[in-house]
Amino acid sequence: MSKIKLILDADPGIDDSLALLLAGVSPEFEIMAVTIVSGNIEVHQAACNAKSVMKMIGREDVPIYKGCALPLKRNYVDATDTHGKDGIGEVYFFKEDISIHPSAVDVIPQYLRKHPNEIIIAALGPLTNLATIIQHDPQVLRLAKEIVIMGGSVNVCGNCSPVAEYNFWCDPHAAKIFFDAHLPNVTLVPLDVTYKILFTPNMREMVRQFKSPLSKFVTDITGFYVDFHWSQERTLGCVINDPLVVGYLLDRSILSLKKGHIQIETEGIAMGESVVDFRETDIEWLSLIAQSVDERKFFRLFLSRLFNSHQKEIDLMIEKRMI
Ligand code: BDR
Ligand code: CA
Repeated sequence: MSKIKLILDADPGIDDSLALLLAGVSPEFEIMAVTIVSGNIEVHQAACNAKSVMKMIGREDVPIYKGCALPLKRNYVDATDTHGKDGIGEVYFFKEDISIHPSAVDVIPQYLRKHPNEIIIAALGPLTNLATIIQHDPQVLRLAKEIVIMGGSVNVCGNCSPVAEYNFWCDPHAAKIFFDAHLPNVTLVPLDVTYKILFTPNMREMVRQFKSPLSKFVTDITGFYVDFHWSQERTLGCVINDPLVVGYLLDRSILSLKKGHIQIETEGIAMGESVVDFRETDIEWLSLIAQSVDERKFFRLFLSRLFNSHQKEIDLMIEKRMI
């Protein structure tokens, strides 16, 4: 069977890094590129993180391209309070040699033109790169087979304001340009479902017990995130949003979806809010919005892929409901 051609547009980021790991170890994907945007951490450090993460799993072959360094209009606010000063948990402080040419915003259209209707874009950070591409050429993203976005909060509170989720809040103007383009085949994976993807203390302890370089890495980078979740919201463990997009691409039964019209607020108290009108159902460009998630199915997939030599222990821990 032919592989799924994938571009990951990301801002690694602790949960972005876990998404890169899941994609990188999954043979179903042909990862064309990882394109980077400023978000959780500024674009250069985010690119260093992406490169180091891919090296960790022997995927130096995947090209990493830097994209936009700043949001389109508003001042840039990173998420180092959540992800650490280096964007990946303050353990490694990765440094890599990464060129700035060609830019992600040039490379994505090139791949799309070369492989029309074949590439899936997984957007895991602010939508600045994708909006900039639309500004340069309003049609080219239509060549994507599908665009799946982690962002927004529809029927739950935001994580940056009562109504806004970080990726859309960081660059609301980009998110608005993206959704106002009315692209077909767009799926939104909002906080409504990702907040259920809680990497629990027991899962983290099981991963630590596997005692491999990858298990150490995953344990190390999630420590800062766990502390943040405890101090901010008295949650034990950490919510890992972005790998859910990759998990869904591997197993479509993980999410249930509903069509809707997504609009983004760019000003005032509701800046970054994603407003979804579920009343319209017949327009062909309507997006799909994730409504519910099978979190156990996701974690079985995620843990088995990353730690496949521990399949038996993972199954046993799930069966015993210990994780
Ligand atoms: C999103 O914001 C970032 O902090 C995470 O990487 C994720 O993409 C969650 O709101
Ligand atoms: Ca992200």
